[in-house]
Amino acid sequence: MVFHIPWIYTPVRTILAIWHQLTKTEIPELTRVSVMMRERSRVEDTMYAMQKAGAGSLQVISDFDMTLTKFAHKGKRVPTTHNILNNRLLIDDDSTVKMKKLFNTYYPIEIDASLSPEEKLPYMVEWWTKVHDLLIQQRIRKDELARAVRDSNAVLREGCSAFFDCLAEQRVPLLIFSAGVGDILEEVIRQNHVFHPNVHIISNYMDFDHIGVLQAFKGQLIHSYNKRAGALSQGAALRELHGQPNVLLLGDSLGDLSMADGVSTAQNILTVGFLNDQVEERKESFLNSFDIVLLRDETMDVPNAILRFIVSSEISKVHREK
Ligand code: TMP
Ligand code: MG
Repeated sequence: MVFHIPWIYTPVRTILAIWHQLTKTEIPELTRVSVMMRERSRVEDTMYAMQKAGAGSLQVISDFDMTLTKFAHKGKRVPTTHNILNNRLLIDDDSTVKMKKLFNTYYPIEIDASLSPEEKLPYMVEWWTKVHDLLIQQRIRKDELARAVRDSNAVLREGCSAFFDCLAEQRVPLLIFSAGVGDILEEVIRQNHVFHPNVHIISNYMDFDHIGVLQAFKGQLIHSYNKRAGALSQGAALRELHGQPNVLLLGDSLGDLSMADGVSTAQNILTVGFLNDQVEERKESFLNSFDIVLLRDETMDVPNAILRFIVSSEISKVHREK
């Protein structure tokens, strides 16, 4: 209404313009209290550069467990791909207890803010090796995996399907880079109807014998703190990701930051870190490492908003062409 009074129009407009300039971002999701940024102007500049280049220049590289899946749901921890295998359908009682014990021993080391990635590395190798050896001993059957996933409480973050769908629609490649178990990861996204053709996966894949019994894990082991090696060898080999110099990277661990190291032509990289656990202890290191830090946020609202912003020029182009 005030806009209809001529003498008040100009001052109000000026104030609004100054306010807009001060808050600048066109993304309301980034103003939430759960969103932290070390350098807001860098985030905005990167997003504008990515928007200008459009969807055709973009690729998304994301971690899986506790990044695309929730950390907790209805007050309970959501299982990781490894923990989905910790099911009596697949392994005996003794082994389920052993796997839980290993988790309780090594997960606190994985997220310990007082240890460097180099200090954590040998423990991570130990954890993954022990668990994989145990799974192999249990002679897991390939044809039981889908049922184990259906029985589990695995759940993608709210808005995750929209994220996958938008990427597929815009033909933006999505590389899921996970230290989890690739066969289970694939089954989770298949059962959620988001395993689109633009999805590529680097992970630990099971090797089954001729009757479908687990006998080994394929290739070099990937754990939380050696993703750089995997990125350089396997990531660089993914042809679809060449020619996409802008990277939106999502992770929940400092080890995830090296997932884009295989992108030799990278021009702009925007990193988003989900800080799920040990929030106060890890806040500073996350803020020093990720461009955007999301505190105890179980949704994909922020990545979805960033993605919409980056591809918005393409969307308006499509509408103009119609
Ligand atoms: P990510 O790279 O997709 O996040 O998968 C790795 C996560 O899996 C990491 O946070 C630790 C977790 N993990 C388990 O939950 N149970 C296990 O037995 C192992 C070896 C790893
Ligand atoms: Mg993770």
